[in-house]
Amino acid sequence: MYILGIWDGHDAGAALVEDNRVVYAANEERFTKRKLEVKFPYNAITAALSYAKLKPTEIKHIAYSTTEFTKTLERIYPGMKERYYLFRRRKIPKPRFDNFRHELKYGMTSIGILPLCREISSSIIARQLRHMGFKDFRLHVVEHHTAHAATAAFTSPFSKALVITVDGLGDGLSGSVSILDNGKLERHVKINARDSIGIFYEQVTNILGMRELEDEGKIMAMADYSYPFALEENRFREYFNVHGTSMNAKYSPGRQFDMLQRIAWQLPREQTAYMAQQLFENVLMKFVSNAIDRFNIGDVAFAGGTFSNIKSNMKIRKLEALKHWYVFPHMGDGGIALGSALYTHHMLTGNAKYKFNAYLGDAYTEAQTESVIKSDKQFQYERENPEDQAKHAAELIAKDNYVFWFQGRMEYGPRALGDRSIIASSSSDSVKDRLNLYVKRREWFQPFAPSILESDIGSIVEYDSKGVDRYMTMAYPIKADARRIAKSTVNVDWTARPQVVGSENPLYEKVLEEVKKSQGLGVVLNTSFNIHGMPIVLNPEDALLTMKKTNTKYMFINGITVTNKRGV
Ligand SMILES: [Fe+2]
Repeated sequence: MYILGIWDGHDAGAALVEDNRVVYAANEERFTKRKLEVKFPYNAITAALSYAKLKPTEIKHIAYSTTEFTKTLERIYPGMKERYYLFRRRKIPKPRFDNFRHELKYGMTSIGILPLCREISSSIIARQLRHMGFKDFRLHVVEHHTAHAATAAFTSPFSKALVITVDGLGDGLSGSVSILDNGKLERHVKINARDSIGIFYEQVTNILGMRELEDEGKIMAMADYSYPFALEENRFREYFNVHGTSMNAKYSPGRQFDMLQRIAWQLPREQTAYMAQQLFENVLMKFVSNAIDRFNIGDVAFAGGTFSNIKSNMKIRKLEALKHWYVFPHMGDGGIALGSALYTHHMLTGNAKYKFNAYLGDAYTEAQTESVIKSDKQFQYERENPEDQAKHAAELIAKDNYVFWFQGRMEYGPRALGDRSIIASSSSDSVKDRLNLYVKRREWFQPFAPSILESDIGSIVEYDSKGVDRYMTMAYPIKADARRIAKSTVNVDWTARPQVVGSENPLYEKVLEEVKKSQGLGVVLNTSFNIHGMPIVLNPEDALLTMKKTNTKYMFINGITVTNKRGV
C-alpha cells in the first residue's frame, strides 16, 4: 500500500511511503529553483509518482498536514502566501508598516485549528489533487506536530523513546512531548504557539537584517564571534520560563518583536546573536532535561526546526540523563510531507518502524547526463569509471582544487551528503574564503563542514558512548591533533558538524579512502552543490549552469568527468 504525503507550506514537498520503507522524498524548491518554496508541490508529487512508476489513479491514500486558520487562508488566497514569501525572503523592497505585518502574522498564526478551517483546507487540497488526475482517494489530515513527531519516532533506532518536537509554530503549537512505546505514539505535553522559542530565534534573525526561517544558521555562526558573557548579563534572559515541562514566554510574539528591536538597536550584531543563542540553548536544555526527568526515559528522538541548531544540539546531547540521541535529518517543515505519510501509514497498518536513508530523490543515468553536456561547447567531457573518478577527484583536491561531485539519488533534506556536493581539501588555508567569495557567495563568518570516513571519526572528533550523528545534525569538538588536517571545516571555537561516511554511499566513501592515502585521514570539506540562496541542484542542467555561474573548472557527474574551458 502506497501513501503519498504532501506539504504545501514553507519548504513544500512530497514523499511516498510503501510498506515499511520510504520510497521517495523531495522538496518542491529543487524543481522550481526557489529556495524553501511555498507553492503546492505539483512537481515533487509528479517526480514521486514517476520514480515509483505509478499513475495518480493508483494512489488511494494521500496525507497532508496543518489546517490552522492562517494556512487555510493562504490556501484560499495563494497570492497572500506568495506575497509573504517574497516579503520574508526580502525579495521585495521593505514595505511600509512591516512591523504591523509581523504583528498581524503573529496574531493570526496563534489562532490554531478550527473545525471549519479543516473542512475548507481539505476541500481545496482535494480539488488540487483531482486536477492532477488523482481519483477515488482518501484524504488524511495529520496535525503539524504529530507529523514532526512521526518523522523522529518512526525513523529512529528506538523502540521506546521520548519524542520531542519544537519549532516556530504549526496548528497552534510550538512544541510537544510524546512517548513512543510498544508501536504507539502518544502525546503528553503541548507548548502553545504564543510561547515559541523558535519564533524568538526567527525574530532575532529578522532584526539582525537576515531572513527568518532561512538564515537562523547565520545567527548561530555569528554568535561564535561575540566575546562570551554569563547568562546573568543576558538582557533576554527573562523572556522565557521553563517549569517542569511547561514553557512560557514573558511577552506575546508581537510585543517580544518590539522589545527585541529596542535592545538590538543598542548592541553589536554578534552580541545580540550571542544572547539569542545562549537563551535558546538554555531554554531547550532545561525543557529536554525536565522532560527526561518527568517521564524517566533517556532515549530521545527530536524533530522540528529548532533542532537544526547544531550548537544547542551539542549542549543538549551532553545532558547526563540523556542516554541516546536521534534527530531526524530533515527536521524542519520540509519534513512534514514525509511525517504526514508515515503517520498515516502507521495509523492504517500499525507499523512503527520505517527504513530511511538520506538518498531519496531523483537520479539521472549516464546517457541522460551526457545528452545534456554534449550540447554545450563550453565543456569538455570524457567518460570515466566512477571508481576512477573517486581517485581523480582526490588528486585534484590534494592540489587544492575544489570539485563538484554529483552522483546517484539526490539527498533529502537541507544537507548535501556526497551526492550533490562541492568537495575540497579539509586542510587548505585558502579554500574556505575562495568558496565563500566566488562559489557559494556567502558571508565570511559562515563555516563549512567535514565529511569523515567512518573508520576515522574517532581520530578526528571527540565523542562518547552516545554515538555520532551521521547526517551533519550535531556539532562536536575537533581533537587538538586533528585541527590542522580539518582546519577548513571547523568553526572558530574548534567544533565541526561532520557527516559520517560509510557503506550507505560507497562511491563517496571511495573518494574519502583515496584522500586518506595522501593525507593520512579520510576527511574532506563538503558543502552543498548550490549558490547561496539557491536550492541544491536537482539535475545535470542545474549542475552545468552552476559551473558556468561560478566559473568552476571540474565536475564529476554520473560517470562523466567535465572540464569547464572557462573555469579557473
Ligand atoms: Fe514545523
